[in-house]
Amino acid sequence: MTPILEARNLTKRFGGVTALNNVSFELFPGEVLALAGDNGAGKSTLIKCISGVHLPEEGQIFLEGKEVRFSNPREARAAGIETIYQDLSLADNLDVGANVFLGREPMRRRLGLPMLDRAKMRSEASTVLDTLDIQTALDRPVNALSGGQRQAVAIGRAIYWKARLLIMDEPTAALGVPEQRKVVELIHRLKAQGVAIIFISHNLGDIFAVADRILVLLRGSKAGERKASETHGDEIVKLMVGA
Ligand SMILES: Nc1ncnc2c1ncn2[C@@H]1O[C@H](COP(=O)(O)OP(=O)(O)OP(=O)(O)O)[C@@H](O)[C@H]1O
Ligand SMILES: [Mg+2]
Repeated sequence: MTPILEARNLTKRFGGVTALNNVSFELFPGEVLALAGDNGAGKSTLIKCISGVHLPEEGQIFLEGKEVRFSNPREARAAGIETIYQDLSLADNLDVGANVFLGREPMRRRLGLPMLDRAKMRSEASTVLDTLDIQTALDRPVNALSGGQRQAVAIGRAIYWKARLLIMDEPTAALGVPEQRKVVELIHRLKAQGVAIIFISHNLGDIFAVADRILVLLRGSKAGERKASETHGDEIVKLMVGA
């Protein structure tokens, strides 16, 4: 089976800091890979190399066997990679529908002039959120939503655009316990639909709740990779601190 994603020997430096050092991994359809590691270990840098934010200095990225080189996040999204960043890239002042379509808004013509098709955005957003069993007021600006609802909108966007790969950087960090459960449940649903997921978290409970495999980074390098069913929290923590 061809992996959806293969990262081969990725290295990224910021001035004198090697944020990512020769890291490789594979990811298969319907698989959840968790990235673990202490603050500054290189987790966000790794996913940003895949989502087109950073161009790695060395290494290659293959999507379904074909080498890709994204010069910006738009190109990565067009290739089916949706990313939910640590700071959550929703536009606060726009409503839920507009956020699902952010940067890819449908247009209609009125009196010969092109304009945003807001009705379509709202109805399509409503459909996708319904299928995910997410209840939010679609006409509210997203800054009026809770953290969990914001995550749900971002996940809904990934589904709507039929992401092959969804990257989530600390999706549960700012959430209350019920909302964390909801995000974990949504991840299971996506996985069942064959979407591959990279999930970054500091919370080992969440990691073991969703991951098939766990890749641990330590100061930019791969400290180890384990099947979730063949390891336990203590071993992951040891890898994280280099013990
Ligand atoms: N844009 C940047 N410019 C300079 N240095 C950076 C930049 N982004 C990350 N770094 C550095 O690269 C290293 C890895 O950072 P990164 O954000 O990838 O860590 P992380 O594992 O995501 O940490 P956290 O768990 O705190 O989010 C750190 O030393 C960080 O200071
Ligand atoms: Mg980070």
